[in-house]
Amino acid sequence: MSVLSIRTLPDSVLREKAKKVTLFNESLQNLIEDMIDTMRYANGVGLAANQVGVLLRVVVIEIPDEEEVRILINPEIIKVEGERRVDEGCLSIPGYRGELTRSVKVRVKALDRRGKALRIRAEGLLAQALEHEIDHINGVLYIDHLSSHEHLWKLERDEVETTTEAI
Ligand code: NI
Repeated sequence: MSVLSIRTLPDSVLREKAKKVTLFNESLQNLIEDMIDTMRYANGVGLAANQVGVLLRVVVIEIPDEEEVRILINPEIIKVEGERRVDEGCLSIPGYRGELTRSVKVRVKALDRRGKALRIRAEGLLAQALEHEIDHINGVLYIDHLSSHEHLWKLERDEVETTTEAI
């Protein structure tokens, strides 16, 4: 499998709405494996297919210190609860982080890599990553949620190297 190049702003593929997956074939499995390799190579917490230039509703998430890689096909948020302020970065907007409002709890339905239905109830970083990645497949970026530019900041070079929570 291979590490793909990650699209960054202002690439227009980041602003497009991805299409639903209907074929659970070998090319989907290859895409998923390449996305996992790419996310790990970039030290990311998650990756959406738009970020590697593919307009399909495919998301991978790997929370640090958790064993499981989550693979979500056609994910949809079905319920959110509460609000909290978080800081957040994105692999497609390197060198920046922002402060924004995300939900405390998130419930998502999706399909697994074989097309079987699954549901996730999440809090904390997983909830944040789910909201962030589902935004990506709708062409939305975290900077769209910032209330002002005061909530976006550029990282110093040493911070870029040590920051791992880009999603
Ligand atoms: Ni991102």
